[in-house]
Amino acid sequence: MQQAIAGSANGGVGGGLSPKAALEAGLKVDMDALPAALVDAIKAGKVDMNDPATTLALLQTNAVVGVKGIFDDSKKIIRVGITCALCHSTVDNAFSAGIGHRLDGWPNRDLNVGTIISMSPSLKPFEDLLGLPAEAIRKVLATWGPGKFDAELILDGKASRPDGSSSATLLPAAFGLAGMNLHTYTGWGSVPQWNAFVANLEMQGQGTYLDTRLDNAVKFPVAAKAKLGHKRSAVDLVTKYLPSLQAYQLSIPAPIPPAGSFDQAAATRGHTLFVDKAQCSSCHVEPLYTEPGWNMHTGAEIGIDNFQAMRSPDDRYRTTPLRGLFARTKGGFYHDGRFADLKAVVQHYNDFKKLGLSDAEITDLIEFLKSL
Ligand code: HEC
Ligand code: HEC
Repeated sequence: MQQAIAGSANGGVGGGLSPKAALEAGLKVDMDALPAALVDAIKAGKVDMNDPATTLALLQTNAVVGVKGIFDDSKKIIRVGITCALCHSTVDNAFSAGIGHRLDGWPNRDLNVGTIISMSPSLKPFEDLLGLPAEAIRKVLATWGPGKFDAELILDGKASRPDGSSSATLLPAAFGLAGMNLHTYTGWGSVPQWNAFVANLEMQGQGTYLDTRLDNAVKFPVAAKAKLGHKRSAVDLVTKYLPSLQAYQLSIPAPIPPAGSFDQAAATRGHTLFVDKAQCSSCHVEPLYTEPGWNMHTGAEIGIDNFQAMRSPDDRYRTTPLRGLFARTKGGFYHDGRFADLKAVVQHYNDFKKLGLSDAEITDLIEFLKSL
């Protein structure tokens, strides 16, 4: 990957990754990590955003959110790694589109993860695991689109839904998670369970991941064959960080909607509907907006198919906490973004549960959701 970023002009291969192309793929630049001189130079239009050498300079200052470049003494890039922030942070565009102050926990719904993985000249880890040639894997990666990733692909090898569409899910919010029982769209476990899963299996960290649920060869043929639930690296660089990583994640509050972004009077009426007529709080219990206790439901209970639920150990969907919805409207709602906006979500519940909400009530309920 580092070779593809650098390009042949900087000791790598191919044309290299320009900052312009990186921003187009949804990567973000943290303006607070840029030295003042570089900020001034960008402002004065003196920085070539089409030159991969600029990308390397940004990586050296650690300014590309979620991407870490490792350089040798001669400033040649020798390795590149990703962090959780790649998918779970974005920026506020304060400087310009894609460049701003970092917002941790906000999903980066512009990020085209598939495109970024595809930039790597070698997809060997995927080829070995899935038993597919690189071209077939690149085809799958191209179906994901912005703001999506398929965390279960390396377990079951299922690249598409029964209707042929991509099986990727939206990058979820990683804020407002404290107090909640199960995590991920399908309730894989607690925050440290999922953190260990991601660090070891998705990001290929050296560590330990033990999970006998992955031995289920019917559900997780790829994981069972590769014994992913029995990973023990010679050196464990992950486990010791699980406590601090969990503490940090649970400390990220859900963001407050900007003043004026919703109609307060309508939101107050919508709150009453949320609790009474629309029965939303039978599952989304305030102030967590998920169930204290066991927060899992079958597809039939919420009026959708079971495809994604069946790709997880408990065959269910987890009740999504609703705070900070405004920070994740791009890409739609529900695990796969099937509902384009809040109106479509509320309309779905209105039809499926025969709630009998009028148009005015639907509007009020939406204003309440925007206020969370
Ligand atoms: C390539 C993008 C990507 C990276 C990198 C990534 N995640 Fe995620 N994360 C996701 C996706 C997609 C999901 C939803 C998975 C699902 O529900 O099946 C998720 C879910 C989560 C959740 C559950 C959130 C909830 O709604 O309960 C946590 C916690 C989490 N990730 C933590 C991490 C940590 C910690 C790291 C770094 C070690 C990390 N992630 C790296 C994409 C990513
Ligand atoms: C039976 C339990 C249940 C009830 C009742 C319920 N929800 Fe949900 N809700 C869920 C589950 C489970 C999900 C996750 C679905 C998915 O990701 O596919 C969800 C997801 C959502 C989302 C999408 C969040 C996101 O970020 O994708 C919104 C918005 C929402 N519900 C609002 C409501 C409203 C408004 C009502 C009342 C009209 C309501 N819910 C009633 C269980 C419920």
